[in-house]
Amino acid sequence: MPEPVSYVDHLRKVPIFSKLSAKELEHIARSVKERVYESGTVIIKEGDPGLGFFLITEGRVDVSHRDHRIRDMGPGEFFGEMALMEEAPRSATVTAKERTRCLQLVRWDFRALLKENPDLAVRMLEVVVQRLREHPAAHAEP
Ligand code: CMP
Repeated sequence: MPEPVSYVDHLRKVPIFSKLSAKELEHIARSVKERVYESGTVIIKEGDPGLGFFLITEGRVDVSHRDHRIRDMGPGEFFGEMALMEEAPRSATVTAKERTRCLQLVRWDFRALLKENPDLAVRMLEVVVQRLREHPAAHAEP
């Protein structure tokens, strides 16, 4: 199993984590679990309960809503934050486009991280708002 220090290297490259201290990154590294998904695997299914938050370290995923593709994401990007922030079902489906490696944080660790780091919470909020502005239709009522 890789040492947490290699997770720290990955975490450091995530733009929203760039201002966290080495100590904070080490703390997160101890909580994450590495997950590897083969191409075509549905990582998150729209409508399911939200259990985890994912940071991509390798590979690419597609985000889609009711069969409409929203966008793809790659290393340094994250997904799965919305259902954990709002305590609501998953808003979209996320599928591995190729073999994809992620670091996963479970709900309670993710929420604790945001509570302990208000600057990080604000940066994440900015990303979420951008996402919703780009594709508001994906989040409209039925
Ligand atoms: P969540 O709702 O937990 O699960 C599906 C994820 O897809 C969601 O969190 C976001 O990470 C991502 N997602 C949903 N809608 C968009 C969007 N409009 N733009 C980018 N990513 C999105």
